[in-house]
Amino acid sequence: MKIAVVGAGYVGLVTATCLAELGNDVICVDRDHGRVAVLQAGGVPIFEPGLEDLLQRNRHADRLRFTTSIAAAVRHAEVIFIAVGTPPQEDGSADLQHVLAVAAQIGQHMADFKVVVNKSTVPVGTGGRVEQVLRSALADRGLAALDFAVVSNPEFLKEGAALDDFMRPDRIVIGLPTGDAGEAARRLMTRLYAPFNRHHERSLWMDVASAELTKYAANAMLATRISFMNDMAHLADAVGADIDSVRRGIGSDSRIGHGFLYAGTGYGGSCFPKDTRALIHEAAAHGLRMRVVEATESVNHEQKQVLVDRVCAHFGSDLRGLRLGVWGLAFKPNTDDMRDAPSRIVIPELLSRGAEVLVHDPVALNEAQRALSADLGRPVSEMDGLTFVESPLDAVAGVDALLVLTEWKCFHNPDFDAMARCMRGRVIFDGRNLYDPALMDSLGFVYQGIGRRGHHQAAHPARELPQPA
Ligand SMILES: NC(=O)c1ccc[n+]([C@@H]2O[C@H](COP(=O)([O-])OP(=O)(O)OC[C@H]3O[C@@H](n4cnc5c(N)ncnc54)[C@H](O)[C@@H]3O)[C@@H](O)[C@H]2O)c1
Repeated sequence: MKIAVVGAGYVGLVTATCLAELGNDVICVDRDHGRVAVLQAGGVPIFEPGLEDLLQRNRHADRLRFTTSIAAAVRHAEVIFIAVGTPPQEDGSADLQHVLAVAAQIGQHMADFKVVVNKSTVPVGTGGRVEQVLRSALADRGLAALDFAVVSNPEFLKEGAALDDFMRPDRIVIGLPTGDAGEAARRLMTRLYAPFNRHHERSLWMDVASAELTKYAANAMLATRISFMNDMAHLADAVGADIDSVRRGIGSDSRIGHGFLYAGTGYGGSCFPKDTRALIHEAAAHGLRMRVVEATESVNHEQKQVLVDRVCAHFGSDLRGLRLGVWGLAFKPNTDDMRDAPSRIVIPELLSRGAEVLVHDPVALNEAQRALSADLGRPVSEMDGLTFVESPLDAVAGVDALLVLTEWKCFHNPDFDAMARCMRGRVIFDGRNLYDPALMDSLGFVYQGIGRRGHHQAAHPARELPQPA
């Protein structure tokens, strides 16, 4: 089938590449000339495991092309996906300007029936607004009678596992308009998604409003599970229980399941923070309150401070003269996405208290430099006290303590002896509960996880550590 995807970000690039992999003829459009130039030259502007290989394969097979010309993409496609950003506005609501701008551009160029599929995460009613914008653009061209369908098909992929999530979805939510255009859209979407439904039917058909709300409800539910566990972790600390045992104890209940039950430094990323805020805002516009989601948000807000609070409780709030190492900058492993990453709260706070901070991330160093220099309002070269280093061991050289912010695989089983030799102090604040507290104790580290103070500490006998060099 002939497909256009507008937006070459995390969602757009994955959608375009995976649909090309299934044999479709795909044009991916972005207004960012630099981004398109990188893609046309064979590069990939984001880090997503497996994406580069798949993208190159389909580019070489001529099933996947990149352009800045939306006119060419609209002419080419039967189905046009909108996958542009919907960032939060000051009041928390989703900014729809990019989605509506794309709708207007489609209306300026379409000349026959199109299915316009909204993949961006948008508040209920956006499908109707896209339709109005399209109709008005067509009317301006004297094409008021030209038919089209606006479909909602929210995306549920996780960055870091995006290709697998797209290719093996739990479900495909498709919200259809009523009438003949809706029926025509159903036929095209059925064909497009047939490869995903061969084993069993994964498509869930519904009306547009329900599909739009399903996406927000899913993210709010997952965010709530994380905040619930973070709240519970504080209680675990207070009563001497181990949150990881509690996690396993409740996750094994088939009614609850294991996903999204990890206590930590709070959720970040491009979706949960903005989507929970947008949901609260949308409810308020209808005179309602999302009280559970409000609590989820406020727990998360405080949770991003937890590691800083622990550092201050240990060393005092004046951190001058201290050197601290940070492992992990991206909001989660396997991505370079720095949007709303806890590191953007923790690092400026440590710097403002006078600490010298060494930071390392296996993939997100460049993105982190961009994000932190925007947050701190100065270029990296002028950030006194902050050093970006290329290896985990470099980030613990001479430090008084290490803070773990992202659970990258390479941090799971580090060389603790080498670390002990490098570190000035042997203190680890583990914001992702990567290490066994009893093992840390036996290795001579002062260790603080999240909600793990009650962990039994006698499993490993203490042993002598090498002295710092
Ligand atoms: N990132 C995720 O994990 C994820 C998962 C599910 C859903 N979503 C949703 O998908 C949408 C896209 O998210 P993303 O993370 O891919 O965003 P992104 O910021 O990575 O990419 C958006 C792209 O759209 C381009 N763009 C903006 N306006 C344009 C226009 N008028 N014409 C052409 N291109 C334009 C931008 O240049 C950018 O490259 C958002 O609504 C987001 O909430 C994201």
